[in-house]
Amino acid sequence: MSKPSSKISVLNDVDDISNRRADFPALRQQINDHPLVYLDSAASSQQPAIVIDTIADYQRHDHANVHRGVHTLSHRATEAYEGTRDDIASFINANNRHEVIFTSGTTESINLVAQSFCRPMLGAGDKILLTQLEHHSNIVPWQLVCEQTAAELLIVPIDNSGTIDTDELRQLLQSGVKMLAIAHVSNALGSIAPVKAIVEQAHSLGIPVLLDGAQAMPHMSVDVQDIGCDFYAFSGHKMFGPTGTGVLYGRESLLEAMPPYQGGGDMILEVRFDKTVYNDLPYKFEAGTPNISGMIGLGAAVRYLQAIGMDNVAAHEKRLLDYMTSQLAAVEGLRLIGTADNKASVQSFLLDDIHPHDLGTILDHQGVAIRTGHHCAMPVMEYFGIPGTARASLGLYNNEDDIDRLVAALAKAKTLFS
Ligand SMILES: Cc1ncc(COP(=O)(O)O)c(C=O)c1O
Repeated sequence: MSKPSSKISVLNDVDDISNRRADFPALRQQINDHPLVYLDSAASSQQPAIVIDTIADYQRHDHANVHRGVHTLSHRATEAYEGTRDDIASFINANNRHEVIFTSGTTESINLVAQSFCRPMLGAGDKILLTQLEHHSNIVPWQLVCEQTAAELLIVPIDNSGTIDTDELRQLLQSGVKMLAIAHVSNALGSIAPVKAIVEQAHSLGIPVLLDGAQAMPHMSVDVQDIGCDFYAFSGHKMFGPTGTGVLYGRESLLEAMPPYQGGGDMILEVRFDKTVYNDLPYKFEAGTPNISGMIGLGAAVRYLQAIGMDNVAAHEKRLLDYMTSQLAAVEGLRLIGTADNKASVQSFLLDDIHPHDLGTILDHQGVAIRTGHHCAMPVMEYFGIPGTARASLGLYNNEDDIDRLVAALAKAKTLFS
């Protein structure tokens, strides 16, 4: 098989991470006559050349459908595609590769658990416990299954800093809860949930736990066995891989007992009109031709992150988030939204009475990309009594110059609106 032209060097210290910016071709461009400052990685991160090249090489030389072929291209495609499963299993420390289900993203992963795991076991009056911090993708799938089963949602409150009330969570767990589903890291506020302790509490009451890891995977080391969760959902496009790729990690014993989520090719061993025998894990949950090139690209992204080391990424981003928070706090008229003690990568804010959309547009004129709005977390906005925020979010490729450019662009916005 042809090899991608980009090479990854192994890094030895945190300072080296600043050099990784050069790995991302999209960051080398001018936007509105200014060098791009990309502070929207929580919505979607940029891709390093190694990911882009790996996908292009696959498309050029190795493309074929996976699993079913006897010819060489199909073997190559299958090897690369299944290689990603091994890479991800090792990256998250799954107990085995069968526990890694490929999906189109966090959203599909959560819907799969809601429908295949929860729906058969829920009845009228049963409770599913979420928090006020959740992304819509970790709310609406549970509302759907509640409509189907007459189960109900319970919501753990947060405080003014955007921290989950863990005392209340402990209380609520004892109210007939059949499933707990929470974000590892909040996309709107960046709050990190104490997931290991929460899982322990839930398990002591026999309650299974799904963690929405969409915003954790690009920023920190995630070890699903150490955390002890039953399901862990994440998206490739937020961790430097392609869109339309994602993973559901599930504990093998639970996945074995669950019915398939969708029917179609590849998820069967034998089909007759009177009876179909489903495939083994993980294929039972992977109906139809998958996103082959995307998953091969995600494998390259995971190897890229592994070479850098997630602890190095976390240390670099912590330093940067502290710098960003202090610089933003010093801007007159700026209100920080989300000030939890334990945070990753994200800072939401409001500036004077400038509408976040106007602010985002003015920043874009200066080459600074941030996100504005409710960030698919309307209950968080409701809690703070605001329609939306401006949100700057970091990736491993950001540096202090990016923060300085953000702050300078905010100063310009202030003069335009004064
Ligand atoms: C915390 C969180 N959960 C779920 C999602 C949904 O991810 P996707 O749209 O990739 O399925 C996102 C995306 O922003 C997110 O930030």
